[in-house]
Amino acid sequence: MTTARISIDRTNVVAPLNRRIFGSFVEHLGRCVYDGIYEPGHPTANEDGFRLDVVELVKELGTTTIRYPGGNFVSGYKWEDGVGPRQSRPVRRDLAWHSLETNQVGLEEFGRWCELTGSELMMAVNLGTRGIAEALDLLEYANGEAGTALADQRIANGRTEPYDIRMWCLGNEMDGPWQIGHMTSADYGKIAARTASAMKTADKNLELVVCGSSGSAMPTFGEWERVVLEESYDHVDYISCHAYYQERKGDLGSYLASSMEMKYFIDTVVATADHVKHRLRSQKTIQLSFDEWNIWYLDEHQASEEVNDEWRIAPRQLEDVYSVADAVVLGNLLITLLQNHDRVTSASLAQLVNVIAPIMTEPGGASWRQTTFFPFSVTSRLARGEVLRPRIDVGSYDTAVYGAAPLVDSVVTADAETGTSAVFLVNRSQTESIEVTIDVAGLGATSITEAVTLHDADPYAKNTFAEQTRVGLSPLAGAILADGTLTVTLPPVSWSALALA
Ligand code: AHR
Repeated sequence: MTTARISIDRTNVVAPLNRRIFGSFVEHLGRCVYDGIYEPGHPTANEDGFRLDVVELVKELGTTTIRYPGGNFVSGYKWEDGVGPRQSRPVRRDLAWHSLETNQVGLEEFGRWCELTGSELMMAVNLGTRGIAEALDLLEYANGEAGTALADQRIANGRTEPYDIRMWCLGNEMDGPWQIGHMTSADYGKIAARTASAMKTADKNLELVVCGSSGSAMPTFGEWERVVLEESYDHVDYISCHAYYQERKGDLGSYLASSMEMKYFIDTVVATADHVKHRLRSQKTIQLSFDEWNIWYLDEHQASEEVNDEWRIAPRQLEDVYSVADAVVLGNLLITLLQNHDRVTSASLAQLVNVIAPIMTEPGGASWRQTTFFPFSVTSRLARGEVLRPRIDVGSYDTAVYGAAPLVDSVVTADAETGTSAVFLVNRSQTESIEVTIDVAGLGATSITEAVTLHDADPYAKNTFAEQTRVGLSPLAGAILADGTLTVTLPPVSWSALALA
């Protein structure tokens, strides 16, 4: 059997865990909002029309900060359409996703949904068709104290307390030709800087995210970040990263190593941000907000006919059904985000319900967990305290896309307060179980309190409407902890987690 060794140095701390790394994303797209989190006629719906079965699943998933309302959608959005009496809200065409927006859910309802789920709201402003004035108006409406026109309008609409939204995205993917109002890096850098400066004049403690590239494959990747940051550096706190992965041409080996691309992406953006920092002689370090990441069968989506000539309300769009292999890759991407948590301090799994999502629903019917639900929920539940960088000694396998890829990847968290720790592991081998010996003496752990794995004899097994619980977690058999050494056997194509005390 192939073997691997992992050693954990308790002092090799990446960063204290910031729970914003477990964020997600709700966009007015397809059935994410309508027929997703919101379905007034559903048997579990509350007085706002929110499905409580979905609320329970969101809580179990363990998401924290939720980015809203887009995405591409935000670049044509008028936030005023989504506040005030629902019966007078306009129906509009959403040009981004070629559908009809009823505006029955807006800031007010979504704010209440966030309270219901215990989520922090992260808001995006429209810099596609709009600008500084509308961003400031939204900020005043959302966060203003009583006594100014828009804050008073919010209060008249029934919300007395300000929402106190801390994180704001300055538009969305403005580098993408598909984006409504997309711009050059210099144009966007200027409007982002001016909008950010004005927003911080209103509230200097806001945390602002400037748009980075919509993907590392963009021809402008790197240069976009440099130019945008040179314009906006003093006024912003984060630069966004967006990355989606999928298996292509049946090359599962490369796909299982997708994290290597994410690592390259992070390293490039960090290098560029720090280059600008030093050029500007700035004292400030820009953080990365990985505010869209996931598996997305984008090639298939682009070839599909789900967007046609009709203008429909909540059409079925981007409803990818995920396999065990997808979940293993997602678990590995989350490991990578944690390994780089000193710079990636906020992230949003895109998206939350129905649209490339861990949670699926049927109108009037069931809600269920996709395979990708499991690594996310377990990591969010077990990760506590500080993130540690383990040393991993393991062989590699050849991939067509990334060259030699390590067979095992891992990250560790340790909580000094409770004396507990957690180890997250991926086996990327398609054929072999791997026995991993982990030196956990430095963690002071004496017992295994939980050991689970996500694996299936068929790496393409899925949970579907017809078979909603086909795939789930199972106990990680044979894990032993003795004399400061943890020994586990990871099945092929698997993601695993162990909690220690
Ligand atoms: O998450 C789906 C879409 O992907 C978002 O709207 C956009 O920002 C990205 O291209």
